[in-house]
Amino acid sequence: MSNKDNINLEKLPKHIAIIMDGNGRWAKGFGKFRIFGHHNGVTAVRETAEAAAELGLKFLTLYAFSTENWSRPQKEVDALMELLVETIKKETPTLQKNNIKLTTIGNLDDLPKGCQEQLLETIEATKTNNGLTMVLALSYSSKWDILNAIKSIANEVKSGTINPEDINDQLIDKHLSTNGMPNPELMIRTSGEQRISNFLLWELAYAELYFTPKLWPDFNKTDLYDAILDYQQRERRFGKTSEQLNNN
Ligand code: FPP
Repeated sequence: MSNKDNINLEKLPKHIAIIMDGNGRWAKGFGKFRIFGHHNGVTAVRETAEAAAELGLKFLTLYAFSTENWSRPQKEVDALMELLVETIKKETPTLQKNNIKLTTIGNLDDLPKGCQEQLLETIEATKTNNGLTMVLALSYSSKWDILNAIKSIANEVKSGTINPEDINDQLIDKHLSTNGMPNPELMIRTSGEQRISNFLLWELAYAELYFTPKLWPDFNKTDLYDAILDYQQRERRFGKTSEQLNNN
């Protein structure tokens, strides 16, 4: 019996977010350049997306490139962008076959033109798919997103469209690039690091965090199932007491 059979499908998280970390260390372990790790990271992306779609998960957000990643060596940045275009292009038929819709969060304007074009093409081609939504966080950082939301709300107040008293959780949700998505109930980070690294700071407020020492290129379906099983054993109290939850 695989660990997949132990998953309670009635209690699946709707949204899982993943910080795919450890590609560089994985490559180093083989005495190779960092980009070798990123190339092998694509296999883990494929495995994870397939497993998520098979289970019936609604949203999977992958932190593929952060705002801060622009400060990596130019050679690595270029290679990552190239890998992204190549992968999206190659995987579009698989996304279609698995009814997966592709979308993004982040500042796409920062990406090279060719990369933007390929993304827009695949987003358009998969927009009516209604299985899993795969969200790629690209040139994304949560502080960037929150800052934009604040500016846009401030402009609405300035123009008189809304009053400061109208600002609430829902209004902020609406101004973030994750608008329309449920908040992730589970956030997984690979490679043993235990940080959020400017990822979905607002949206992860009540997420369960799961850290695994596995490096991203080694992450597979079984690892995703393990993370979901761990999540399903947790008591999510949202500030309440255990007794309150058990009495309901
Ligand atoms: C973090 O590992 C990984 C990244 C910054 C890039 C992730 C990209 C991929 C998995 C490939 C392309 C993805 C898609 C969605 C097609 P790291 O380089 O920080 O590793 P290290 O911490 O060991 O140095």
